[in-house]
Amino acid sequence: MVRQIRTIDLFSGAGGLAKGFAMARCGFKTVFAVEIDPDAAMTFKHNFRCKVHVGSITTVPEYPEADVIIGGPPCQGFSRLGRDRSDESRAQINELWQEYIEAVRRVRPKAFVIENVPEFQRSPQFERLLELMDTDEDFSAYAYNYGVLNAADYGVPQNRRRGIFIAVRDVAEVAWPPPPTHGPRSMHETPYRTVRDAIGKLPSIPMGIELEEDRVPQNLHLGRNLTQLSIERFKAIPPGGNRFDLRRNRPDLEPKCWANKPSGTNDVMGRLLWDRPSVTIRTEFYKPEKGRYLHPDQHRPITHREAARLQSFPDNFYFVGNKPSIARQIGNAVPPLLGKALAKFVLEIAFARPDDSAITSSDRSFVVQPGEERDQLVDRRVRHLTVVGPVGKRVVGDETVVPFVDPVTVGVGVLPHVGC
Ligand SMILES: C[S@@+](CC[C@H](N)C(=O)[O-])C[C@H]1O[C@@H](n2cnc3c(N)ncnc32)[C@H](O)[C@@H]1O
Repeated sequence: MVRQIRTIDLFSGAGGLAKGFAMARCGFKTVFAVEIDPDAAMTFKHNFRCKVHVGSITTVPEYPEADVIIGGPPCQGFSRLGRDRSDESRAQINELWQEYIEAVRRVRPKAFVIENVPEFQRSPQFERLLELMDTDEDFSAYAYNYGVLNAADYGVPQNRRRGIFIAVRDVAEVAWPPPPTHGPRSMHETPYRTVRDAIGKLPSIPMGIELEEDRVPQNLHLGRNLTQLSIERFKAIPPGGNRFDLRRNRPDLEPKCWANKPSGTNDVMGRLLWDRPSVTIRTEFYKPEKGRYLHPDQHRPITHREAARLQSFPDNFYFVGNKPSIARQIGNAVPPLLGKALAKFVLEIAFARPDDSAITSSDRSFVVQPGEERDQLVDRRVRHLTVVGPVGKRVVGDETVVPFVDPVTVGVGVLPHVGC
């Protein structure tokens, strides 16, 4: 059995980031989560079966022991989209990162990961975080690094830029960035995943409108009751087009409030492009007036299933709540595939054995799950599995023990060409 790397998820949301850590199959196991939104908390509980504190982080009585803390303090306070909030509400949200830091102080994990909007890294709060990391005794043993990553570089069929901060205790340095797996900067220049890759095989007509509770598997390929006027507007927008095509082709249908706005973003009422990653999926992706959320060639906005896929959620991830609540959970999430890349990066820096001469800096350490078959390894693009331990058992990092079931198909490898 793989010994777990116990993980706490703060501001967990539905669990996109946690799902990525689980998908990395490196032993990360969420043992405790904190989430104020009851629907998101129930979603998290359903998918991860761990203890969830449903309430504000300010009311957590105590934290369990853990090896890693991950989480994204809410970002409306920093993001451009949150500027319509009152100063007081923004100030309160802006200070929630300190609760995260308090949790780190109490748990003292081997590593922690903070995810936020890129703007956070340009805020006075971030300056305070860096000052704390450099001057506070509790944090002096942590090396850290940070930057803005695009989810598309990690196999997500979506351009989504996130500010990521990673700190690891008792290591010399945290290199940067985590190596991209897709796009021009990836080792094999693997093409970006596209909208077509993600949703091209879904039925073009949604499978109903209302969410059916208890339906298994969950059907999120749900449309909306569109008015004839909306449909006529969408018909006036060609592939790749946007609201300016509506103005050109059917000025009689242009909403009056847009008539006075001759310029502005090209994304409003835009169509997604089949052969590129999508735009950032936000919480109201089902409203085409909010962004480039029209289907590439159908006269409708994208469905919840399409949005979840563009976020790289697997179809068997179950969401609790009504349609707007699920949309919020999907739009707020860290794309699981970005989380997966972060998990592998943290594993390598924080939990790989530094004294293992077989592991060179260009190799990636890799845990093969007990019972995993050769075919699954091929699926995971494992090309060269070098079993580096004695047949029977292998220690990874300080604690992770993988008993071998079969010396060929189960083990721990150093894999120079792990492309995922
Ligand atoms: C950006 S989302 C996190 C997304 C999550 N990491 C994921 O990948 O799915 C931030 C979350 O913080 C939650 N939140 C906001 N204020 C909170 C508080 N005071 N205590 C706990 N959770 C809070 C929100 O409900 C929201 O789900």
